[in-house]
Amino acid sequence: MPVEMNLAAAEDPAIRTEGLSKRYGGKAALSDLTMTVPRGEVFGFLGPNGAGKTTAVKLLLGLTRPTAGEGLLLGEPLGDVEVRRRVGYLPELFRYQDWLSAEELLAAHGALLHLPAADCRREAEGALELVGLGQRRRDRVGTFSKGMQQRLGLAVALVGEPELIILDEPTSALDPVGRHDVREIIRKLKARGTTVFLNSHLLSEVELVCERVAVLDQGRVIAEGRLEELLAQTGARIEAAGVTDAMLRDLASFGAVTLRGSALEVEGIRRAQVPDLVAALCAAGARVYGVELRRATLEERFLGLLEAN
Ligand SMILES: Nc1ncnc2c1ncn2[C@@H]1O[C@H](COP(=O)(O)OP(=O)(O)OP(=O)(O)O)[C@@H](O)[C@H]1O
Ligand SMILES: [Mg+2]
Repeated sequence: MPVEMNLAAAEDPAIRTEGLSKRYGGKAALSDLTMTVPRGEVFGFLGPNGAGKTTAVKLLLGLTRPTAGEGLLLGEPLGDVEVRRRVGYLPELFRYQDWLSAEELLAAHGALLHLPAADCRREAEGALELVGLGQRRRDRVGTFSKGMQQRLGLAVALVGEPELIILDEPTSALDPVGRHDVREIIRKLKARGTTVFLNSHLLSEVELVCERVAVLDQGRVIAEGRLEELLAQTGARIEAAGVTDAMLRDLASFGAVTLRGSALEVEGIRRAQVPDLVAALCAAGARVYGVELRRATLEERFLGLLEAN
């Protein structure tokens, strides 16, 4: 597939797509996906069930061909076979060979990457240790619990120190400890300079590890950006006594004001206005005990975006 994208010399992102689209029969699974994932970032790809996340991942990896559009993965056109050795992938639904032990399975994946036998063993041990399966490395995969299978899938994705790791719902089967472990693994990968592309609908997880996110709905990206920008401050909560109705009316210029007990909620106030609001309250005779700036959670933002779409 000819790729005629204008790649600025200084930029060499891990992933770049242009108008990537996939139709199954008459139905669009992914429409016009244009995105860039810089190297070394942890990127969250979010969306409700059926939004097109897995379809996008399959297109990136060349497991299915686009109906339209194109892209580059680590600088190579989508579908390039060689580049697959530099990419780790945890599929959404997977089943490994039950009869192999965990270390045999990982060594087999190392062999697929053409690693020397000694490196395969070392890589297998290191990856199993990292995902917390070191003690079970000689056990057969068929005897593993669901969460252990998912940890194993993550270990497979880690073999060979890939430059880019694509994880399709890596924590769906994991207990809270497992989820915490996966976050720690992602942080270690980032520290190593690895790019991580994370498909997820577990928003609280994404919030904790991703720097940049794209939100997909019905095959289309409806929001994209740095997490801190998407979750900009939305208001303030002020703990105060002696707030009267007359004060509330005077404060309306700062934002939508509501009083619940001693908590004054001001929606839409900007950070720079907060000291003025506190000064106005004090001047009017109220007593202020605390001020807390409020940010939307990713879940609130996500639901708002889907509703508006
Ligand atoms: N092989 C296929 N044949 C036909 N339709 C498909 C195929 N794969 C995916 N689709 C459709 O494409 C759409 C997007 O599916 P996809 O698996 O990409 O969603 P997803 O965002 O990964 O969802 P989930 O969160 O449930 O994993 C869905 O409507 C799905 O039914
Ligand atoms: Mg999916």
